[in-house]
Amino acid sequence: MIPRLKPDLTLKEILALFKSNRKDDIEQYELAFASLMGQSHAINFPYGRTGLIFLLKALGILNQEIICPAYTCVVVPHAIVKSGNEPVFVDSSDYDFNADWDQIEQATTDKTAALIVTSIFGHPANLDKLAEYKKRHPSVIILQDCAHSYAASWNGMSVQRAGVAAIFGSNISKIITSINGGMVTTDDAELAKKLIQLRQEHVTPPTLLNDIKRRVYLFAVWIAFSETVYGFVNAMERAGFLNKLTRYYDENLINMPNDFLLGATATQGRVGKIQCQRYNKIIADRRKIAIYYHDHLQGIGDFILPPMITGATYSHYVIRTAHRNELMSYALNHGIQLGQLIEYCIPEMAAYKHRPGSRIPCPVASSMARETINLPISIGGSIKKAAKIVKVLKSYASIQDEKSNPCLQAQ
Ligand SMILES: Cc1ncc(COP(=O)(O)O)c(C=O)c1O
Repeated sequence: MIPRLKPDLTLKEILALFKSNRKDDIEQYELAFASLMGQSHAINFPYGRTGLIFLLKALGILNQEIICPAYTCVVVPHAIVKSGNEPVFVDSSDYDFNADWDQIEQATTDKTAALIVTSIFGHPANLDKLAEYKKRHPSVIILQDCAHSYAASWNGMSVQRAGVAAIFGSNISKIITSINGGMVTTDDAELAKKLIQLRQEHVTPPTLLNDIKRRVYLFAVWIAFSETVYGFVNAMERAGFLNKLTRYYDENLINMPNDFLLGATATQGRVGKIQCQRYNKIIADRRKIAIYYHDHLQGIGDFILPPMITGATYSHYVIRTAHRNELMSYALNHGIQLGQLIEYCIPEMAAYKHRPGSRIPCPVASSMARETINLPISIGGSIKKAAKIVKVLKSYASIQDEKSNPCLQAQ
């Protein structure tokens, strides 16, 4: 079975699991990460969300409003709330899934302390619009959420550098992984110093047992995501046996995972560094597959394809369809797992709908939550696999066409 996502791992990362720890493994990873992002500092945190909490703290933002997309990972507003601030949600653009700039403008008030610019699915945020926004609102602090985009760029400008700081997540579903973990990058030396100090004060160093568990986890992931084994893993997932590993939110709660203050192990540093070294190849493979989908899925069924934007890094290749569930089960029966990544519009969720920051209607985000589906993109640049996926999608669409147009059946 072709899985909906797959960490891009080689034997190098797996061998790194069996090496002994060195004191500077994490530091080496941070240096490699900062250099990859073209930034002066990269500070590792247990999660991207942990990094965001401490970033807001380090910037002295408290009891303020922070604008973020309604259509993003729910852990982002969770971190804003945990930092003592209020997330204000804005609707998405139908074009690129990112927050709509007119909506951002309307949501900005004198209570707005920061804007979290998000390049969702690796579609780079429009940095020209951001520059105009900054001119109009010089006091609003710009933070970049690059958990999906990594080094995506807009007209040659890297998104992660267009703000005071950027956050990244690096669990196994991300473009590059350090088993789990997150990073904050910045060019501001003072801010970096504060972040390191906050990490020292609040993040607990991992134990030997944590290290062993994380090594075993990545090794298990490597095996579980191989095509022969994944069918079994998927069956377990559907039977609910893996809920603890795969469910990352509870509709009713604003919470953090138990280990959100547990620091990274040296092993994670070694794996992360190797992934940084392989970044260009990983991105090239993703772009190749995105282009293939784009060229071969035009005009098929009711699919709405994502935009092809130069500089996009395609953490996900997301299409929209009114028949998501049927398509997903049809594909599964043909050996392909499609994914539903963000199947919620945050201000409509039980935990958020009565909050003051959920005051703006978000109809576009709401329909995206019902319609988006992501195709496997981390398939090692294999056109053969992409062709198989396209074939299944086309055969599904032609069955739909026949159903909706019985004359075709008679021909
Ligand atoms: C868009 C987005 N931002 C931020 C994060 C936070 O990353 P983490 O899971 O490491 O906290 C995620 C995580 O999945 C994400 O998808």
